[in-house]
Amino acid sequence: MPDWLIYTGSRNGPEDGADPLGRLPDPPPWRAFDGGPVLPSPPGGSGNEHQATTYRPSDDAVQQANAALYLRRPLLVTGPPGTGKSTLAYAVAHELGLGPVLHWPITSRTTLRDGLYQYDPLTRLYAAGRADAPADENIGRYIRLGPLGTALLPYARPRVLLVDEIDKSDIDLPNDLLTIFEKGEYEIPELTRRADPSAEVMTADGPGARVTVTAGTVRCNAFPFVVMTSNGEREFPPAFLRRCVTVELRQPSGAAELSAIVREHLGPLAEQSDDLVRRFLERSTSGTLATDQLLNAVYLCRHAAAADRRALADRIMPYLTGPIDDD
Ligand SMILES: Nc1ncnc2c1ncn2[C@@H]1O[C@H](COP(=O)(O)OP(=O)(O)OP(=O)(O)O)[C@@H](O)[C@H]1O
Ligand SMILES: [Mg+2]
Repeated sequence: MPDWLIYTGSRNGPEDGADPLGRLPDPPPWRAFDGGPVLPSPPGGSGNEHQATTYRPSDDAVQQANAALYLRRPLLVTGPPGTGKSTLAYAVAHELGLGPVLHWPITSRTTLRDGLYQYDPLTRLYAAGRADAPADENIGRYIRLGPLGTALLPYARPRVLLVDEIDKSDIDLPNDLLTIFEKGEYEIPELTRRADPSAEVMTADGPGARVTVTAGTVRCNAFPFVVMTSNGEREFPPAFLRRCVTVELRQPSGAAELSAIVREHLGPLAEQSDDLVRRFLERSTSGTLATDQLLNAVYLCRHAAAADRRALADRIMPYLTGPIDDD
């Protein structure tokens, strides 16, 4: 393993008292950010410990994840369904001890503003109209930062942001995002318009999480580790691609790698699953299958009689694209 790698794909968390990011060099001068006052990251694991501790990344994925960390650039991860695109974010958060992953699932209706923050003026209006409303009521109680808005808070260590399925977005979102990632900051006009533009707002880290935003502007300190996933059905503009580090994931091609993944997930339950791994590879030549279909088949077929195993496995591993099963 080349020694410039900070994330190695080891599946272990940081050793007690060790900080793997201690070896991460300062950012390139054009990617240095100085937001403050600096905040500690919230405690806790990645939020998906099983996935994080069983993930076997390709060498290419490890290398490109490190390039994104060094260059302070988002990582665009493409590849067919079930190749571990989303899981990569959890694996990096776990190994480097970067705390809970901020998950931002994208749909065709998602806007940049949804990711940054939500302001709820109606509840505020209602509260102000009540007889017992406090005279100086706190606007921050009606502002909640979204996953993107939270990731750009001035944390001392990078937060991990998963922008999941960016290919599902409206046509403008990738460009809007790259502007934000370029600047590493955003404004909350509802705050900047006020005489006192500072407020304690809620974050995407759960109901109790609050931070103070000063001068109505959020600017990052450590640039977040951003993973953007795409099934690759969409072309992104060159201006977007130029500002990302890219990696394409592939289905593991050999029985050895598949068996290792099955053992990683199922431990002793993975014994005597070679026939299913072979069947998965056989079927993979005629249509698309995903690794987690194999995991389901191995888990389930332990309970089937030997004579029924193959038929059951085929039912659990239908083609995602390609020939239609005829039974
Ligand atoms: N290389 C791998 N090592 C271990 N487990 C893997 C690997 N690749 C995929 N898996 C497992 O397969 C499942 C699917 O992974 P994941 O959800 O990350 O895929 P994805 O590429 O994001 O799929 P989709 O495009 O459908 O969102 C998970 O249970 C994950 O743990
Ligand atoms: Mg995914």
